[in-house]
Amino acid sequence: MPSRILKVGIAGLGRLGQRHAQALAFRTRHCELVAACSPVASERAFAGEQLGVTRLYEDFDAFIADPELDAVVLVTPTSLHADQAIAALKAGKHVFVEKPLALNVEDCERVLTVAEQHPAQVAMVGFVRRFDPSYLNAYASVAAGEIGRPFLVRSQTCDQNDPDGFFVRFASTSGGIFMDCSVHDIDLARWMLGRPKALRAFASGTIALHPALAEFGDVDNGMAIVEFEGGARAVLYASRTMAHGHETSTEVIGTAGKLSVGEHAASDRVVRSDAHGVRHAVVKDFYERFETAFAAEMAAFVAACRGEQALTLTLADALEASRIGLAITRSLHSGLPEAV
Ligand SMILES: NC(=O)c1ccc[n+]([C@@H]2O[C@H](COP(=O)([O-])OP(=O)(O)OC[C@H]3O[C@@H](n4cnc5c(N)ncnc54)[C@H](O)[C@@H]3O)[C@@H](O)[C@H]2O)c1
Repeated sequence: MPSRILKVGIAGLGRLGQRHAQALAFRTRHCELVAACSPVASERAFAGEQLGVTRLYEDFDAFIADPELDAVVLVTPTSLHADQAIAALKAGKHVFVEKPLALNVEDCERVLTVAEQHPAQVAMVGFVRRFDPSYLNAYASVAAGEIGRPFLVRSQTCDQNDPDGFFVRFASTSGGIFMDCSVHDIDLARWMLGRPKALRAFASGTIALHPALAEFGDVDNGMAIVEFEGGARAVLYASRTMAHGHETSTEVIGTAGKLSVGEHAASDRVVRSDAHGVRHAVVKDFYERFETAFAAEMAAFVAACRGEQALTLTLADALEASRIGLAITRSLHSGLPEAV
């Protein structure tokens, strides 16, 4: 068992990067957050002042050249993922990169090629739901045959409406709603269905509240159907405009039963029943819903880098999720079914 503490650096200290950085600095065992990189001075100051990180980089190339670092966590805009992951692997670092791996198949394949050339280094993509206790519980039931043969996954990622429109500014680098949100449901569907090959996708969408998305060819509500070899299907819904809160939920339907995860998005176990009806509080955003899973994900990355635990989630899975998400996005734009 390796005893050395893993020295980790993080690039990207935005909405999610700050959360990952806090988890690495204070809540992940066997690692030390020693460096941080961001082009934004206030984000570097956050890492220095709030997390006690002393090695602060404005420049990404200088960051990955830091000889102190064993591993890097990339929480940067999606359009940068492929080139940054490749540069970090070539610099000899283990790499965790947020989802999606890249915004085109060629970039995903470039990362896989470089990762294959560096087999001693871990390369992991952040499909956080694979580390969520409820999804793991559902997966164990499916794997044990409890619902018979699973043939349909119906899954949604729905965010509470953000009147500030963060995701409108984010749209130029996110790849659109399907690559940004549904890519989680796509990976989940492949996982639950036993990694079948995807054949064809069809999508539609609408803009309910945020007309500025039209400039990016994006929508704030999108629906898609994915057909897999052997008859399995996935039905996906993604929304940016929920009134009540964040609702990620999934049904896995099999020949002998059905599993439901996350229905109604309850944030705790209190249900109020009174003259107005029966109701409960709702999780407000993805981080509140998946905080435990994000912590388990970072722990799994550190354990894999230290050689303690192999990862079942592979770069090939991330490539397939991007391939399917891209076919869905093409279909949204063409209005026609698209081959995956
Ligand atoms: N797993 C999930 O559920 C989940 C949730 C949210 C975001 N994400 C992913 O995380 C990534 C970041 O999303 P976000 O919402 O935090 O975005 P964000 O825009 O809030 O943060 C991006 C960060 O990257 C920094 N940055 C920009 N260029 C950089 C460079 N060249 N080098 C280093 N840092 C640079 C920015 O300063 C900022 O700190 C995206 O790929 C997104 O898909 C995943």
